[in-house]
Amino acid sequence: MKRYDSQQWKESMRITFDFNNMMADMIGKEQGITKESVNSLKDKLKTAAQAMVTKRAEGKMDWRDLPHNQGDIIEDILKTASEIQDKFDAFVVLGIGGSALGPIAVQQALNHMHYNELSEEQRGGCPRFYVADNVDPERMKALFEIIDVKKTMFNVITKSGSTSETMAQLLIVWDMLKNELGEGYRDHIIATTDREKGNLIRIAGEHKLKTYYIPGGVGGRFSELTPVGLLPAAVCGIDIQEMLAGAAYMDEICKTGDVYKNPAYMAAALQYLAMKAGKNISVMMPYADSLKYMADWYAQLWAESLGKRYNLKGEEVFVGQTPVKALGVTDQHSQVQLYTEGPFDKVVTFLGVGKYRTSMEIPKGFEDIPAVSFLGAHTLNELIHAEQAATEYALLKAKRLNRTITLPEVNAFTVGQLLYFMEVETAFTGELLEINAFDQPGVEEGKNATYALLGRPGYEEKKAELDARPKKKEEFIL
Ligand code: PA5
Repeated sequence: MKRYDSQQWKESMRITFDFNNMMADMIGKEQGITKESVNSLKDKLKTAAQAMVTKRAEGKMDWRDLPHNQGDIIEDILKTASEIQDKFDAFVVLGIGGSALGPIAVQQALNHMHYNELSEEQRGGCPRFYVADNVDPERMKALFEIIDVKKTMFNVITKSGSTSETMAQLLIVWDMLKNELGEGYRDHIIATTDREKGNLIRIAGEHKLKTYYIPGGVGGRFSELTPVGLLPAAVCGIDIQEMLAGAAYMDEICKTGDVYKNPAYMAAALQYLAMKAGKNISVMMPYADSLKYMADWYAQLWAESLGKRYNLKGEEVFVGQTPVKALGVTDQHSQVQLYTEGPFDKVVTFLGVGKYRTSMEIPKGFEDIPAVSFLGAHTLNELIHAEQAATEYALLKAKRLNRTITLPEVNAFTVGQLLYFMEVETAFTGELLEINAFDQPGVEEGKNATYALLGRPGYEEKKAELDARPKKKEEFIL
């Protein structure tokens, strides 16, 4: 029996959403949100909740079913992960955006913070892990200086199967593997992509690569709980079944349409009202280094899903909330000044941890200097908790909207809950804004312009459009 089979354990690991400091009762009527304004959304909330149910039933939100429908895939992933652990020293993800940020965030959350520096034995026989989520030539070269491609498994991930960055990474690796290994190259590449669309599926088929599929109705930024995130996590020894169990638990919690019982819906409703009141910046501030990259993952999810020019009726709306990544306590010494005294344009989300996985005592010392010695005999755990509480208080006092999501501890179950919570919050906010949260026309524009600039066939018209853009003026370059 797994620990997540126990209802009692699950409840003890339930993440909580504390929105006290969003409310007028706490923060004052001038900036805070009243219960009346939440209640006044009643019809809108009902319509949005109904749309979530209908779209799910119609297969337009396939990501919602991922915690429940991947039994066979999980078995296959676990088998492959174990083979990779036996044979390879390094595992490298080739991908970008939704095909990179989830694997990075989960690895940082659930494995040792210096995982790659551990010995193989300390890593439990798992390979070192890298994500090549850029096309910076210096970074790519640096990667090849520390891995031996002959002992590396590459997992090329792209939902569309055509993203230039990922394809460029693949071409480099492909060439290198062929030179080093001849026909053996195909045992070093696993493809994760759409079953039908794109170039990668064609390449994978022609070269008989081991392939995992991203379900058709699951977009890049909602794909962490598909093989996109599950294979890298399993390879690095993370309990993916527990992660999915956490997501399933949050799915259960989020089934009700009642915002006062559904934390993701309440979170969305409050963000919606905050946006209406001009709070167009959403700061995600984890108080745990392990959750640092959750803020990066969230930033993509929130920005690409909600930053939209048109609503579903085709009217121009220009909506969205700019996500900002911060880290507690580090950014208390960099950004919090702005959050407490700058414009009233932000909602700050604290990501807190109930119980850290370790405790570290601060030794007593410098007894003749009380301003230092008071720290002695406390723990770093107490210090970080106190700093989080203090920052919440500073924001409350300055009448700045803030909310806190707390993970009782960071483990695969709570991380699965968190990912799912943020996905539901995002989708529901999209419904409230009456936009399509699942497309990204602005990203596509940039992708198409890149193809045109580098001469991809079929993009001649786009190239002509780019060539006709206004020429830069010397006088504006100093
Ligand atoms: O969410 C999205 O769809 C995008 O941000 C993609 O994740 C990103 O552009 C990478 O695309 P792909 O996975 O198709 O290579």
